[in-house]
Amino acid sequence: MCVFFVKMAGRGRLLPCVCLGLFGVLCWVWVSFASFPDDQLYSEALDAVDRAAFQPQSALSDMEFGSVVSSYRGPGNTDRRSNKELPIILWWSAGLFPHFPGDSERIDCATSSCLVTSNRKVQLYKRTASIVFYGTDFRPYEAPLPRLQHQTWALFHEESPMNNYILSHSPGIRLFNYTATFRRESDYPLTLQWLPSLEYLLHPVAVSLKEKNQLRREGVAPVLYMQSHCDVPSDRDRYVRELMKYIKVDSYGKCLNNKPLPEHLQDTATATGEEPRFMNFVARYKFHLALENGLCPDYMTEKLWRPLHQGCVPVYRGSPAVSDWMPNDHTAVVIDSFPSPKALADFLTRLDENDDEYMKYLEFKNHGRITNSRLLEALETREWGVNDMSKPNYLNGFECYVCDQENARLAAERAYKKFPNKSPPPQPKMASYSHMGCPLPSPGYGDVQDLPADDGWLQIWPQDYWQSLDQAEGLESLIRHNESDPSLLWKHMQNMAVRRARGKH
Ligand SMILES: *[C@@H]1O[C@H](CO)[C@@H](O)[C@H](O)[C@H]1NC(C)=O
Ligand SMILES: *[C@@H]1O[C@H](CO)[C@@H](O)[C@H](O)[C@H]1NC(C)=O
Repeated sequence: MCVFFVKMAGRGRLLPCVCLGLFGVLCWVWVSFASFPDDQLYSEALDAVDRAAFQPQSALSDMEFGSVVSSYRGPGNTDRRSNKELPIILWWSAGLFPHFPGDSERIDCATSSCLVTSNRKVQLYKRTASIVFYGTDFRPYEAPLPRLQHQTWALFHEESPMNNYILSHSPGIRLFNYTATFRRESDYPLTLQWLPSLEYLLHPVAVSLKEKNQLRREGVAPVLYMQSHCDVPSDRDRYVRELMKYIKVDSYGKCLNNKPLPEHLQDTATATGEEPRFMNFVARYKFHLALENGLCPDYMTEKLWRPLHQGCVPVYRGSPAVSDWMPNDHTAVVIDSFPSPKALADFLTRLDENDDEYMKYLEFKNHGRITNSRLLEALETREWGVNDMSKPNYLNGFECYVCDQENARLAAERAYKKFPNKSPPPQPKMASYSHMGCPLPSPGYGDVQDLPADDGWLQIWPQDYWQSLDQAEGLESLIRHNESDPSLLWKHMQNMAVRRARGKH
């Protein structure tokens, strides 16, 4: 059965679709129940869909893998084993099992085959080689314990760092053997997941500079802000509030709102994602404030790519390494290269008044002006597609990566057992800080020491970050003590706090 995933713009959600025949496509909405609210402008309409989240029914009773249909067999896959002999990969976060229908399926990957399942019955099976977790839903107090020596853990996390800071700490990320995250350092990088294609960038400018200048004379501000998710770790509103003192910003979302949306866009169902009327509306602005909700290397979302698609200039804060992925070295205005909001406002005002200087930012739209070879190569070589039915989605891509790695490890173990003198033992493999590693949240503007004690941001995000470290260390302790009950997490955290207070470790 073919399943592909559509990334819904403006939401960190995946929309799984099943292909039915040549033209029929059935989509259901998957939503992670424990995640934070999203950046969506108006989320109410979609929330109604979310609540009806699709729950696939188990077509197979009691793990009868014998009858499952096989999927694509890669050209390098000569695996002739029957289903009964294959290693099992367990998707622990059941809401994200990327197969349909049923809860189990055989996968035939590039070099080997596995069985994948969302049925937790197999947790302690000898044959279960790896457990896959969805980062946003990863909870130490629900972890599969005891952790078995022969099983690896795999992490899939494409969403914002704010959804789970446990993964940003070394003790948290090191629990995993394989990772797929937005960071290029991860094992199966999802860095450009929000950029559908090169063509998306080359799309012609939606509103010409002549029209934009006319709109400016009619009172439209040079800068757009559109944000309804206000209390986030990047603390972006604090920066934008300051910037607004020095340059005119039209702000339509719930955060820092200073303008109502036109009536035809107030309909919550249409003001989402890439709805054409909504797109045309925002394309009239010269500059889009594009500040991610959490700051982390390589965490870049549609906030960045959409203005580039439309031919507006993103004024960006998010990944500190954003320049590494831009079409050329004159595409985005990077907030953190300016010493102050006022300096940034002065710069934007100069661009607003100088057409030649402004147009330099749109030169990448001309043929051959996308010169960044890192970007070109990454788009060329990635094996998964975004909203593209002709390519595998990255969930299936990652499970196949894990499957091939596990089969290689098992083969190496067998060879070592048989010929210990000829074959080396397989080396352990685990993730490190750089596979996620997002920094402690800091204020969007100003110094943390200058914030009043009752500041809302201060009370939430730095604490969330450090409590996540405690949880990561707690889980590490549970595993070290070979506990089988994850709800002992709190007790372990308490014991560690007591020992720390006594100055012991
Ligand atoms: C997987 O990671 C764990 C925890 O970091 C480690 O103890 C184990 O040796 C790793 N397993 C393999 C097969 O590399
Ligand atoms: C860990 O606990 C499990 C059962 O709870 C047990 O079967 C296993 O032998 C233990 N492992 C070690 C290394 O003590």
